[in-house]
Amino acid sequence: MKIPSVKGFHDVLPDETVRWASLEASAREVFARYNFREIRPPIVERTDLFRRSIGETTDIVEKEMYTFEDRDGTPLTLRPEGTASVVRAYVEHAMHAKEPVSKLFYLGPMFRRERPQRGRLRQFSQIGVEVLGRDDAAADAEVLLLLYDLLSAFAIEGAEVQINSLGCRRCRPAYREALVAWGRSKLDQLCDDCRRRIEQNPMRLLDCKQPGCIALRDGAPRMIDHYDEECRAHFERVRELLEAQGIRPHLQPYMVRGLDYYCRTAFEVLAPGLGAQNAIGGGGRYDGLVRDLGGPDVAGIGFALGMERLAIVLAERPAPAAAPEFVIAPLGSAAETRAVGMARRWRHAGARVEVESGGRSLKSQMRHADKLGARYVLILGEEEMAEGALTVRDMQARLDRRGAVEIDASIDELRAALVSGGASSVERQA
Ligand code: HAM
Repeated sequence: MKIPSVKGFHDVLPDETVRWASLEASAREVFARYNFREIRPPIVERTDLFRRSIGETTDIVEKEMYTFEDRDGTPLTLRPEGTASVVRAYVEHAMHAKEPVSKLFYLGPMFRRERPQRGRLRQFSQIGVEVLGRDDAAADAEVLLLLYDLLSAFAIEGAEVQINSLGCRRCRPAYREALVAWGRSKLDQLCDDCRRRIEQNPMRLLDCKQPGCIALRDGAPRMIDHYDEECRAHFERVRELLEAQGIRPHLQPYMVRGLDYYCRTAFEVLAPGLGAQNAIGGGGRYDGLVRDLGGPDVAGIGFALGMERLAIVLAERPAPAAAPEFVIAPLGSAAETRAVGMARRWRHAGARVEVESGGRSLKSQMRHADKLGARYVLILGEEEMAEGALTVRDMQARLDRRGAVEIDASIDELRAALVSGGASSVERQA
């Protein structure tokens, strides 16, 4: 009986993991240049962590968390995002006492019980960064510049970064009032969720995915008309710093993000070709979160990119090739024993080597080597064993070179022989 995978939980198969590994390698390189260090929080946290940080009336907390009781009754949750865990770890390990600014990045799976569709999974992977300990606009600009650098390191084309400022605890109450009044005036046109959320969390009205609510949104009050002096100046400075680098994210006054911890600068990255799930990343500032989670009054800002969505955007381009440098094709069991030793020796010297099974015909070994995309096959038959030298088949030129290189050759001698083509006798293949 076949046991299928769970809905919304996908395998990432070898053809794709090559792409993932290359995205991760590029990200690590960019993070290092910006002096970020890696953090690896656990996948399971206490449920309260997410309720208190993401917000009780968000879709994530209300509908999407994988929550279960541990055997001792403790409510636990598979992390739906990384920020809450990073901040929890930051507070738990008193990182603020060890360094004034922490610049952290993470890679790994997140879990949300959403309705699966293209680019929307129940287990998905994020690459994220968090900067803790800076409340100045230059930190926002640095995080955004890092985001742009990542997109170009990944060679993502046509992405649009949208930006907004969500104000702060001082200026948001007046905006909230304006939104509640607007929501009440539209009560009969809003969806059930929005009607319920008007009083509790009116910012969520702007984030609703129901077509009817989206259509209403353009008439809603805008945060941009309610900033206090500090929030206005902060937002202007962020945009000025980016502008000085020739970067102008698109101002989107109704973008609020789906998590409650944000304040001031918030942003999303939209990419073409993704359909409804067009956000490949998002982030923003969360200055009150460290304090809300029991730490000192330390500011924070960060973002996360979704790996699966990046992979979809890049899918038209071939994944980096992963062919072996050469394949050894032994014929018979004595040659096979020898081939295993040769492969081991050359692998220890750093080569990427495949060994075929000596019990199969040369023709079938060749077919497999071709499928692997190998340029060279080292044939080890009875004659080669007797002569102590290999026949090298160049799969591209379709040439066999008898006695091209000794069986005991070092990896450097072998590589030199492969490219130089110094053969004792050359035979063209059909
Ligand atoms: P988020 O916007 O909820 O933000 O998620 C960031 C990215 O994760 C999305 O833009 C998307 O690419 C990917 N993503 C989210 N849900 C799914 C899903 N169900 N399937 C596939 N991909 C998905 C956060 O998670 C914040 N923690 C980002 C942040 C970091 N803000 C500050 N620091």
